[in-house]
Amino acid sequence: MEYKLAPSILSADFLDLKTQIDQVEKAGAKYLHFDVMDGLFVPNISFGIPVLECIKGHTDLVLDVHLMIVDPARYFEKFKEAGAQILTVHVEAMKDPASDLKKIKELGMIPSITLSPDTPVESVFPYLELVDQVLVMTVNPGAGAQHYIDKCTAKIKAVREEALRRGLEIDVEVDGGINENTILTAKEAGANVFVMGSSVFKENPYESARKYIEMI
Ligand code: DX5
Ligand code: ZN
Repeated sequence: MEYKLAPSILSADFLDLKTQIDQVEKAGAKYLHFDVMDGLFVPNISFGIPVLECIKGHTDLVLDVHLMIVDPARYFEKFKEAGAQILTVHVEAMKDPASDLKKIKELGMIPSITLSPDTPVESVFPYLELVDQVLVMTVNPGAGAQHYIDKCTAKIKAVREEALRRGLEIDVEVDGGINENTILTAKEAGANVFVMGSSVFKENPYESARKYIEMI
């Protein structure tokens, strides 16, 4: 299994975004995690399509877009045009998850489903055959620099075990509160893609990305 770091630019210095993206790429990160919040599905508003368009073409990192928005299907085409390669959607935010995930694939993006900490893990099981990645949220979506919620470790394990049981080679991504104390817990539970916002960007991005890539 391939282990990948996905730095989340939610915690980056936006005035120095290009430099910081270059630093994590040079360090060996594989994905760039891009958190979109609409002020409805989650209370905060972050950034969206125009910023993604700016990043597109300026990095070889895979653009891993996490939509924390109501009825995300309204924007699939726009995110595709803006450069999204992996598109993660919340099971709680969709009217018809199966149809939405198929649409993501038809548009040429990699479908990924996610669930918030209080959502039962079984809620994503009907869709495992339709995705290449499951993102297990390990904090309540909506903000960076929160604490890892311990009960989510069992969900990482449950997703990995269910995928193995069905013979599916999916990536299990974790997002929220991943730091030097929690990264190996998530890895041992079955995660192989690690989103890290504050742990990477609140220190020197190159040095911290190097450090975490060595750990995984
Ligand atoms: C939270 C976002 C995360 C966030 C993680 O809603 O989905 O991607 O950037 O930040 P850290 O790593 O600081 O917990
Ligand atoms: Zn995220």
